[in-house]
Amino acid sequence: MSINESASDDAKDPIVIAKNLTIGYEEPLASNLNLVVKSGEIISIVGPSGVGKTTFLRTIAGMVSPLSGTIECNVKRRGGLGYIPQRLGLVRHTSVYHNVDLGARVGVSFGEFGLSWWSERNKRVLSCVEAMGISEKIREPVRRLSGGQQRRVATARTLAQRPKLILADEFLSELDDDNISAVLDAVKAYIESSGAAMILVEHDINRAKQVSDRMLVIDDGRLNPFIEKLTIQEVKF
Ligand SMILES: Nc1ncnc2c1ncn2[C@@H]1O[C@H](COP(=O)(O)OP(=O)(O)OP(=O)(O)O)[C@@H](O)[C@H]1O
Ligand SMILES: [Mg+2]
Repeated sequence: MSINESASDDAKDPIVIAKNLTIGYEEPLASNLNLVVKSGEIISIVGPSGVGKTTFLRTIAGMVSPLSGTIECNVKRRGGLGYIPQRLGLVRHTSVYHNVDLGARVGVSFGEFGLSWWSERNKRVLSCVEAMGISEKIREPVRRLSGGQQRRVATARTLAQRPKLILADEFLSELDDDNISAVLDAVKAYIESSGAAMILVEHDINRAKQVSDRMLVIDDGRLNPFIEKLTIQEVKF
């Protein structure tokens, strides 16, 4: 088994459909978002600090209600939505293994594998940890890892869920170029083979271009509506 096995339920349906969305808390941060994300796509969200990028991801995840408009996520399976938070949300005093297993135990359903559930979970954890290049740290408590290594633990935990939609908030920060390539290769291979989709927040515009199929710019309180129709090379800043 590898992390690249299928995660799709209804592969032909769009995974995210946002219509006339306004995001924010008491006051709107950004408005006029219309976005359709299909299977296999990687969309990046860029924009200055404090503009509402994390809020946008949390709105898609259902953690923050939109102020107006609708958002539909075609993710029905348990563990189908994988969220890599900006602040990671790892259990710092327990091992890398334990943290990644938190994803695997959601992603491996008992009925599917019957009595071999434990071994499937174990295999899933090992393959995801290996894909992130942190096998030698697997028994270490997370608090003893570097910032970039901790980000890879959070990514492994999310891949172990085999999500249909990955929401990733600055998940490449603190990584060097070699690690970025390795992490991206693993995540892209998963997305391609499973039909999942990914929306990522990335403060580095050049990296966003390198990583994603389309880019959405949140700037000055507006979600730039024309980006939807353009390819990444055509985006002007
Ligand atoms: N729970 C909350 N309640 C009220 N306001 C909030 C809440 N969380 C964030 N905000 C505010 O919303 C604005 C956008 O925050 P958000 O975290 O979405 O920005 P961001 O674009 O992700 O920034 P960064 O690039 O620094 O991570 C900020 O002004 C922030 O103070
Ligand atoms: Mg943020």
